Amino acid sequence: MTATRGFGIDIGGSGIKGALVDLERGQLIGERLRIDTPQPSTPEAVADVVAEIVHHFEWAGPVGVTLPAVVKKGVAHTAANIDHGWIGTDADALFAKRVGKSVDEVAMLNDADAAGMAEIRFGDPVARTGVTALLTFGTGIGSALFHDGVLVPNTEFGHLEVDGHDAEKKAAASVKDNEGLSYHDWAKRVKRYLTVLENLIWPDLFIVGGGVSRKAEKWVPLLDIRTPIVVASLQNNAGIVGAAAAAAEGIQH
Ligand code: BGC
Repeated sequence: MTATRGFGIDIGGSGIKGALVDLERGQLIGERLRIDTPQPSTPEAVADVVAEIVHHFEWAGPVGVTLPAVVKKGVAHTAANIDHGWIGTDADALFAKRVGKSVDEVAMLNDADAAGMAEIRFGDPVARTGVTALLTFGTGIGSALFHDGVLVPNTEFGHLEVDGHDAEKKAAASVKDNEGLSYHDWAKRVKRYLTVLENLIWPDLFIVGGGVSRKAEKWVPLLDIRTPIVVASLQNNAGIVGAAAAAAEGIQH
């Protein structure tokens, strides 16, 4: 039987958000709960917040949880924008123990991969065919790559070296804010980044997401590149929805 309801938690650098999810529509059911990410964002401190969110909703089924990190078989392998204590941490085992579930009931995945899963399932149907790359512009740059709707996990295209720099250090949305760049100047950097990426992977479609996609009309039209671009449709909740879908489908990698 396919689950119609799920539960997802999206762990970010500034907030940890959880909600019940309608898995047929790809929408949240009721309000989401957001708690500030503890600083420092150590595994133990974050696990406390994850447990608080699960208990708040009194959710008894499988839980999907995202991390802004490479996640393989439940273990985090990188920590670009979170506490370095995450590297080598078995997040799956840590969270399962803390929320009183078996490891099979907790699905861990990269935050951008989760957002991409949500877009593939519930966003523009054109994304389901061919090679689609989703990029999330936030504190860093997250990426998710799909071929005919199937995810190639942990691509980390945000760390591509572009003109001698780690791409996200120049083109993340946080850089726009920190350096006080206009949309026009920031879009030039995003365009350069996407050009390098399209020349390497030749996608059929880019999906651009992250909080800054709410103002898409200010910068997406400036990105005159070869590959068609669509704006993410699930916006802020894509990570939660994708995490819930991953948990319901039992995805592990
Ligand atoms: C991390 C990725 C993450 C992205 C967005 C990057 O710095 O390396 O794992 O998906 O930020 O949060």
